[in-house]
Amino acid sequence: MSKSITVSCEGKPCYQILLMQDFEGLAEELKKLGYGADRKICIVTDTNVSRLYQNALEQLMGACFAVVTAFTFPAGEEQKNLDTVQRLYEHLIANHFDRHDVLIAFGGGVTGDLTGFTAATYLRGIDFIQIPTTLLSQVDSSIGGKTGVDLARYKNMVGAFYQPRLVYMNLSLLKTLPKEQFLSGMGEILKHGLIQSKEYFAWLKEHDREIMAFNPVVLEEMIYQSCLIKRSVVERDPKEKGERALLNFGHTIGHAIEKLSDFRLFHGHCVAIGMAAACRISCETGQLTAEECESVIRTLVRFGLPVSVSGLSAEEIFAATKSDKKMLAGRVKFILLQSIGHACIYPDLSDAQILDGISSILEEA
Ligand code: GLY
Repeated sequence: MSKSITVSCEGKPCYQILLMQDFEGLAEELKKLGYGADRKICIVTDTNVSRLYQNALEQLMGACFAVVTAFTFPAGEEQKNLDTVQRLYEHLIANHFDRHDVLIAFGGGVTGDLTGFTAATYLRGIDFIQIPTTLLSQVDSSIGGKTGVDLARYKNMVGAFYQPRLVYMNLSLLKTLPKEQFLSGMGEILKHGLIQSKEYFAWLKEHDREIMAFNPVVLEEMIYQSCLIKRSVVERDPKEKGERALLNFGHTIGHAIEKLSDFRLFHGHCVAIGMAAACRISCETGQLTAEECESVIRTLVRFGLPVSVSGLSAEEIFAATKSDKKMLAGRVKFILLQSIGHACIYPDLSDAQILDGISSILEEA
């Protein structure tokens, strides 16, 4: 089993997304990109991934590259900052990395985002490869070239659009992914169906049992379909001038809750809560029918995702949406659903409408 997708940038083929079941093909793929024994490579990873897979990947890379170094940082969103990037720069300088050398982002979204940002800025840009190890990073953050780190109160405040040379997934790693991390990825996957394809959303519902039982054939098809949707959006709007913002469905309220939980709640879980709120707002603004709204919420629950939050007030969630970087320029571009499979940008929501949507996802004290 293996699948491949080519992502184009400015109309030209730019990089491949490979869905594989092991690391057997990685060395060959790196050779095809022209990397050989004259290059140095730095594997960037966090303590969780390092514990499980670092040795295997280092050995594999040792056969292809002159020098293989590893930079490991403590796992967690709070590490996605300029201090970690600075330590990585220092590691690269200490190991004499130059423009011909390569970084490998080996891990989830935090690893991919900060490695990509370091690659974009070290010596004004060196190559990097994405090896996403979580479901969330496989279907979302490893594709489309968004890189960056958090700054002060703001998530992804500093960054660059910078494309990887290759996205290589070893889907067998999903077997060791904690269940909550898997469900977090499901939040983004369901979002793909909701914003762009009612057929895909229906397919996900039909295959819920196989998905939750980790059926490898169904998982591969699901990841493939989600990557196709993500590709189609980022190819049409690489720098988020318009359509790419649709990928932020559920994220305005979701990010606020994620931040208020000090990142104890998983990203995809917060997005699911945000999508539930956005569906209720879509219903109130006369777009989504009440039936469709309840059907989406039931589906999120069926996939083990939360659709409400406790211990927070509507006012504090609302205030936290204001510190989202997307709000900085003034009014938020809220994403709503017109129907299942069709999202739209809604620039004119009133504060009262947003507050009502937030109130709908609060659990009674
Ligand atoms: N994760 C949203 C985007 O890539 O635009």
